[in-house]
Amino acid sequence: METERLRDFYRGKTVLITGHTGFKGSWLTHILLSFGAKVIGVSLPPVSDRDIFVTTGLQSAVSHHEFDIRNAERLIALISAEKPDIVFHLAAQPLVRQSYAEPETTMSTNIMGTVNVLEAIRLSGSVKAAVVITTDKVYENKEWIYGYRETDPLGGYDPYSASKAAADIVTDSYRRSFFNENDYGEKHHTLIAVARAGNVIGGGDWGVDRLVPDIMRAAEGGAPVILRNPGSVRPWEHVLEPLRGYLMLGARLGAGEREFAGAWNFGPGSESWLSVGDVTRKVMELLGTGDINISSQPSFHESNMLTLDTTKAQRILGWKPQFDINRTLNETVRWYKTVNTDKTKALAITQAQIASYFGLNK
Ligand SMILES: NC(=O)c1ccc[n+]([C@@H]2O[C@H](COP(=O)([O-])OP(=O)(O)OC[C@H]3O[C@@H](n4cnc5c(N)ncnc54)[C@H](O)[C@@H]3O)[C@@H](O)[C@H]2O)c1
Repeated sequence: METERLRDFYRGKTVLITGHTGFKGSWLTHILLSFGAKVIGVSLPPVSDRDIFVTTGLQSAVSHHEFDIRNAERLIALISAEKPDIVFHLAAQPLVRQSYAEPETTMSTNIMGTVNVLEAIRLSGSVKAAVVITTDKVYENKEWIYGYRETDPLGGYDPYSASKAAADIVTDSYRRSFFNENDYGEKHHTLIAVARAGNVIGGGDWGVDRLVPDIMRAAEGGAPVILRNPGSVRPWEHVLEPLRGYLMLGARLGAGEREFAGAWNFGPGSESWLSVGDVTRKVMELLGTGDINISSQPSFHESNMLTLDTTKAQRILGWKPQFDINRTLNETVRWYKTVNTDKTKALAITQAQIASYFGLNK
């Protein structure tokens, strides 16, 4: 029922995705294509030939644009020309360690990139809904054992978290100043939301300094995986889970339902709040190989405990996670095992996992 509604909504719609060459953006593009949407993508080029964007042949399936979102003129020109109905803004420098090495690039991409996307939407006037993707790391972390709520204060210790918290605040300012729900239908025709998700895993991610890709690379090279903070607890969720949330949100906003504007958490159930060490051991068990080395190198600051409260998404949007941690890890490892054995199966397994998750074959 929910899938039918999503498919009916997105069929024939023009959807702009920033960050479509990345891990989450590629999965989102595949889902939207399977719903019959026309996808326009803006990103930097894929990082390597192994990226899911490349191995699943997405470039020829979408209207593909390669440029930096810090280039405001190009974004404004593209959005004005293509007049997308919906925008999903995912493009970002998303890595914490990289943000220590390149704080300025991280800040300018994540903050000014978001300003540019919102400004292009404001100037075009054609976009009906926009979902800006931030992260669980936007919350001022108090090392609470319980999940953060949408109304909790934002903050950020490392440059990545700070940049995403700033992007979140910028979006809220645009929402209140230019896309205010109370003025919808009179002064403007755009509704805006922010989506905050936790540690997202799934097939096809080769990002550096990310746990699952690190385990896969180590297993390939026959080397132990090096863990920095094995005791840190994270909310692990399969990539399809938050993406379904983003799509549900986009559809509600696109239908003019103003109560869906604002911030939303999409995280897994508490049985999926596991330590980095536990997840590593479970993935290695499924892979049937692997060893762990605990790094003695001085690490950068990372939180020990960070989880999300998803009551709002469950009660108001009707979203709830479908996978438990075992299913999340099984589906993830199955993707890598299949594609590592035969690269030509990347598209088939991606589409099959989407079809199975959304019940598209029924
Ligand atoms: N993967 C996770 O666990 C996770 C968790 C929470 C939030 N997020 C957020 O989800 C979004 C997508 O993350 P991902 O995991 O797919 O990352 P990714 O690194 O795989 O993809 C990032 C995408 O952004 C694009 N991009 C980066 N800088 C750009 C620039 N200057 N101009 C244009 N495009 C640019 C890249 O080309 C790529 O398409 C990000 O906003 C990230 O902060 C990710």
